[in-house]
Amino acid sequence: MRVLVVGSGAREHSIVLALAQDPEVTALACAPGNAGTTAVAEQRGVAVADPEAVAALALDWKADLVVVGPEVPLVAGVADAVRAAGVVCFGPGAEAARIEGSKSFAKDVMASAGVRTATAEIVDNPARLDAALGRFEPPYVVKDDGLAAGKGVVVSSDLDFARAHAMTLLDGGHPVLLESFLDGPEVSLFCLVDGATVVPLLPAQDFKRVGDDDSGPNTGGMGAYAPLPWAPPTLADDLVTDVVAPVAAELAKRGTPFSGLLYAGLALTSKGPAVVEFNCRFGDPETQVVLALLRTPLARLLHATATGKLADEPAPQWSDGAAVTVVVAAEGYPGTPRLGDVITGAEADGVLHAGTRRRDDGAVVSSGGRVLSVVGTGTDLEGARDDAYRRLEGVHLAGSHHRTDIAARAIRGEIAVPSVG
Ligand code: GLY
Repeated sequence: MRVLVVGSGAREHSIVLALAQDPEVTALACAPGNAGTTAVAEQRGVAVADPEAVAALALDWKADLVVVGPEVPLVAGVADAVRAAGVVCFGPGAEAARIEGSKSFAKDVMASAGVRTATAEIVDNPARLDAALGRFEPPYVVKDDGLAAGKGVVVSSDLDFARAHAMTLLDGGHPVLLESFLDGPEVSLFCLVDGATVVPLLPAQDFKRVGDDDSGPNTGGMGAYAPLPWAPPTLADDLVTDVVAPVAAELAKRGTPFSGLLYAGLALTSKGPAVVEFNCRFGDPETQVVLALLRTPLARLLHATATGKLADEPAPQWSDGAAVTVVVAAEGYPGTPRLGDVITGAEADGVLHAGTRRRDDGAVVSSGGRVLSVVGTGTDLEGARDDAYRRLEGVHLAGSHHRTDIAARAIRGEIAVPSVG
């Protein structure tokens, strides 16, 4: 099977590495890829959000399967164009990708499906902002209604700060979503969905704030771990029954069945699980830990998903033990990152690339805000965390920063699912 992966992050590096281990895969390409993916996949240039360009590349490269990593091309209709060209594609069409592309659409789907989520209000007129904020209690949750790579979200008890963020979004022409705050530990649950069948992968937890102890602004994600030692063993199946399957069924009922990876971001609150957001693709950096533990050949699973044959596949198999990833970010991230710095140690095992490129002189340099995602594994979470931070010591990027507390609270036993009352 010839597999073309679209994207250039550590998620795509992780996907490419997992695909390379599948004996059914005879050729791999990544478009546009990064300095890390070139070691395992052919590199092809493409404008990822241009549906016709990606479809043309898929035909030209004779892909048997296209795997679309990021949300922007999916929302732009890349999967539709690839399928229209007659190539099997893993990823939802533009209509179903609205589950991530429009938070108000997602709220509407969840309401119809009877799925718990934060109460929310859309504001698209600055004159209505203050009255709307007055209907919420602190901490205020202010989101960009559209795609914002995780950086459009502000959670703050400071009304002036929350209001200023909302005004910045509105001034930029972006409708704003105000939400009630959901307490309780967060879970990222990835599910393969082929339109009808829903198969959960290992639940993971990510770290969205830039600083230790969840300080500072939101990012695309600064680290992750799996599995969740504090979660009940039935968590994934329960969440499929109560949340993901009803949403998948609602999308199918609306004539826009979801095919690909449906990512439920949830808070386990004292009133039960509630959805923080849905995403229409593998999450980053959780993919790096989930795929580090996957034993089932990935290409076969993704192909079965894309062709509606997931029900015929055995349940995914997982390695015992745990995985932890720590993201290395460029100076300035999540604001304007400093680019072009030389990275050393980036070619070691367990170092996945995100914002990297190879300079003409052969040096690997930073080319994005999240630069690397260092993955450690171990027989338990503590071993995996030690492994990740040990690997990270071998990496050097001037001015970079990373969190030092990924998975620490879980290891200390400080995370608990609230009893529902
Ligand atoms: N880890 C958050 C995301 O992928 O959106």
